[in-house]
Amino acid sequence: MNVVPRSGDLKVTAPGILARKALSQDTFRTTPKIVCLTAYDYPSAQILDAAGIDILLVGDTLGMVVLGYESTVPVTIEEILHHLRAVRRGTRRALLVGDMPFGTYHVSIEDSLRAAFRLVKEGGAEAVKLEGGERHFELIHRLVDSGIPVMGHIGMTPQSVNALGGFKVQGRSAQAAEQLLRDAHAIEAAGAFAVVLECVPRELAARITEKLRIPTIGIGAGPDCDGQILVFHDLLGLTPGRVPKFARQYADLSGVISQAVTAYCNDVRQRSFPSDAESYHAPGAVPAEATTRTLR
Ligand code: KIV
Repeated sequence: MNVVPRSGDLKVTAPGILARKALSQDTFRTTPKIVCLTAYDYPSAQILDAAGIDILLVGDTLGMVVLGYESTVPVTIEEILHHLRAVRRGTRRALLVGDMPFGTYHVSIEDSLRAAFRLVKEGGAEAVKLEGGERHFELIHRLVDSGIPVMGHIGMTPQSVNALGGFKVQGRSAQAAEQLLRDAHAIEAAGAFAVVLECVPRELAARITEKLRIPTIGIGAGPDCDGQILVFHDLLGLTPGRVPKFARQYADLSGVISQAVTAYCNDVRQRSFPSDAESYHAPGAVPAEATTRTLR
């Protein structure tokens, strides 16, 4: 790992994120919302880190927006590690969170701990994220006890897309809402420093946010959460196919890239690229017979 995360007051840490919730519950203050984004490579990590994003997540949406899978289910730990290392090299200030892929924390606590240690030791993650509530109480507790900060993730949990019957808003019935409240409390009680709420009604997200002592990070969960997360590719208009309703698109980079590449194609085909100024020149006359000469 060739990047040492910045130390000192400016560095975002898991305890620092947790402390923001206590500050926000102090009625005399308005604490800034926690801003999070996914990141999957070195140059974008550098840009996002410098722009002041608090938490960078190497999430398993990697599978869908970068690797072309139809869901996050096939993503492997090696794939997460590969991208985590790249993002680690570009990140100094932000808290770096690595996603536990489907299947790496479902067989046994020991296997799950081993997978999480890999994200921290080999990938440079400073915290891990995993999907699911009450049923992962013991695992979250063991991870935290081992020195690994944990971010929970409930609501629409994409790794369970097959069990949920599709990417659907969760917690709409009274019973489902109660279960989500229980899940959120279990995650907090197990020692997590934050919890992602994905695709839940804003009223329910507001209730969970009000009840918890750890910050809630919303995605499709309305404006009342303690922070927000979006997928980098959705925000920049780089996502292939349909983008969910909650993802505000701040730029159309697909359009920008397409225009640039079309211009390049035209220039090459019309012989206007490369120009003489974009070419190297031989120091003297070029011999008729082939010899090796140094170009400048
Ligand atoms: O993998 C991911 O990008 C996520 C976010 C949607 C929270 O889990």
